[in-house]
Amino acid sequence: MKRFAMKEYGSAKEVLTEIEAAPREMDETHVRVKTMAFGVNPYDVSLRQGQMSSFRTLKFPYVLGNDGAGIVTEVGSQVDHVAVGDQVILHAVGGTYGEEIVVPGSKVAKKIPAISWAEAAGGVTPWLTAYNIVTHTLADKIGETILVQGASGAVGSLLVRLLKYRGKTVYATASKKNEELVRSLGVDEFAAYDQDDVGERFKEQIDTVIDATKGSRTAESGLMAMKAGGNYVVLNDLPEDQSKPGNYQHYAPSKEYSDLEALNAFNQLYQEADLHVTIAQKYPFTLESVIEAHEALEGHPPAGKFIVEREED
Ligand SMILES: NC(=O)c1ccc[n+]([C@@H]2O[C@H](COP(=O)([O-])OP(=O)(O)OC[C@H]3O[C@@H](n4cnc5c(N)ncnc54)[C@H](OP(=O)(O)O)[C@@H]3O)[C@@H](O)[C@H]2O)c1
Repeated sequence: MKRFAMKEYGSAKEVLTEIEAAPREMDETHVRVKTMAFGVNPYDVSLRQGQMSSFRTLKFPYVLGNDGAGIVTEVGSQVDHVAVGDQVILHAVGGTYGEEIVVPGSKVAKKIPAISWAEAAGGVTPWLTAYNIVTHTLADKIGETILVQGASGAVGSLLVRLLKYRGKTVYATASKKNEELVRSLGVDEFAAYDQDDVGERFKEQIDTVIDATKGSRTAESGLMAMKAGGNYVVLNDLPEDQSKPGNYQHYAPSKEYSDLEALNAFNQLYQEADLHVTIAQKYPFTLESVIEAHEALEGHPPAGKFIVEREED
């Protein structure tokens, strides 16, 4: 079985490699999936560069990848919500960069046919993040007016669609070049972080600010925009200055959040809330593709997901 692994920390070209791996053992709680597509996330790039090495130990060769979609080939006896032959979306702790993966049944949901392999694989982590922030981390505390910073991103764009579906007023920021994309999501107000004074424009108007930018770039404007006592949620680093009264939270995945619940909601809201996962680039199932996708994500890539997809047999 072909898998794409990193042999140590370092540059994409130097450390990403193709390995031949034996199929993993199954037990009654697991599902084996033939991977049809996997998504490459900014997180994979940070992991490969060693940015998480002080708190996350990897055993090399390590197969990256949390997000995938594929076809079920084997099902443990205790799993009853998917069957052999089903098309599924899955969320793994690691290891989706390859031809096959074995994951706990609780991490796999059926995929509706309307969702392509690329959108399914590309949507997993961004959707789980958006869904969990809105549904669990903030829930009833979220308020009525929400600012999504980084609304052109994978997480940000799904946040916008979900919040609009829930009837919220959504203000959004992104670069000027992505204005049309972000407006097409149905935002109520848009400001370009590279042209407008976002903090002044939205000053004290926002109940919840969500900084979904790569690297938490928008603390200054977000803090100005937040009403005193509002929520301030980040995907990366919290602002150093938290002198303004507020509920400051760093979002991190939690065992208390059910992947199955969130992935089922993805299917449902894909139809009801017109969710779409923007695809920046689809690559063939090769090592060169994985390297290219990693290199693209190191810079400031165009909006959308980078997906490695396998051809149908
Ligand atoms: N904590 C968690 O569990 C968790 C989960 C998922 C993601 N994340 C992290 O959250 C971030 C977003 O993830 P993603 O997958 O949505 O990434 P993405 O698709 O690459 O989106 C990145 C966003 O950041 C914006 N951005 C880039 N440079 C900026 C700058 N200088 N100032 C303001 N905005 C800027 C981009 O806007 P333009 O392209 O329009 O400039 C885009 O909207 C990543 O850092 C990721 O690692 C964390």
